[in-house]
Amino acid sequence: MKILYYTSTGNNLFIAKQLGGELLSIPQLVKDNIYEIKDDSVGIVFPVFFATSPKTLREFVEKVNIHADYIFLICSYGSDGDYHALKIMKKTFNKRGININYTNSVLMVDNFLPVFDMAHEMEIKNDSDIEKQIEIIKNDIISKKDFIYSKKHFTNVPFIEKILESTMTSKYHIIADDGCSSCRICTKVCPRGNIEVIDGKPHFGEACDFCLSCVHHCKTHTLSINDEANPNERYINPNVKLSEIIKSNNLYQ
Ligand SMILES: Cc1cc2nc3c(=O)[nH]c(=O)nc-3n(C[C@H](O)[C@H](O)[C@H](O)COP(=O)(O)O)c2cc1C
Repeated sequence: MKILYYTSTGNNLFIAKQLGGELLSIPQLVKDNIYEIKDDSVGIVFPVFFATSPKTLREFVEKVNIHADYIFLICSYGSDGDYHALKIMKKTFNKRGININYTNSVLMVDNFLPVFDMAHEMEIKNDSDIEKQIEIIKNDIISKKDFIYSKKHFTNVPFIEKILESTMTSKYHIIADDGCSSCRICTKVCPRGNIEVIDGKPHFGEACDFCLSCVHHCKTHTLSINDEANPNERYINPNVKLSEIIKSNNLYQ
């Protein structure tokens, strides 16, 4: 079994690790131009971004050829939009003639800083609930269960498809303040290789997924978002090491 994953703060890496098999980071596959994946079972594990998936992943899904008897899609999300994100990804694969056998979602800490307070999220998202959700999915996948997750539609589907992402990314932006220690962790956790530290200050290119990995991992709080719910709190999945996120996302290695 191969699991292709995308992560910014570790939730999806945690799910991927719990599910087992060979783990392949999607940003690294993109970097190495690998778009042919073959195994008996293949899964994609990804975060919901604006009720869809990160831009890198949407582009990847348009190109990747998966040759497998059993294909599954698992998303992690913090509040809503999981059904919609899975539906869109499944539809993209189906249009390309690739059948999806199983879709499901895991409710975890919502790392979207403008709206959610990380301290509160960590309090209300219970570790054992998360593990239970993953265990169910793991058993389903081992037994190659056919199942397509369905749920009531997220608020307003045409709105999501057309303008949710652009509305949110024009409303919120990453701010680089003084105080950078030039540790360069932001450059290594960015899944797009979009950050450079020049003269003690992070500089951003045009390829941002708005995944917020750089902001969550910035030890000096030099990086932040305008209008954060709680500017003092940051999140990294407690079961994942920084070195694992760097190994997943660093495109400069
Ligand atoms: C830009 C952005 C947009 C997000 N949009 C949604 C959303 O629409 N619905 C939702 O439930 N969670 C949303 N989230 C929360 C993430 O899907 C969730 O925290 C996920 O588990 C993070 O996974 P990771 O730690 O592997 O990066 C969003 C997070 C980010 C950074």
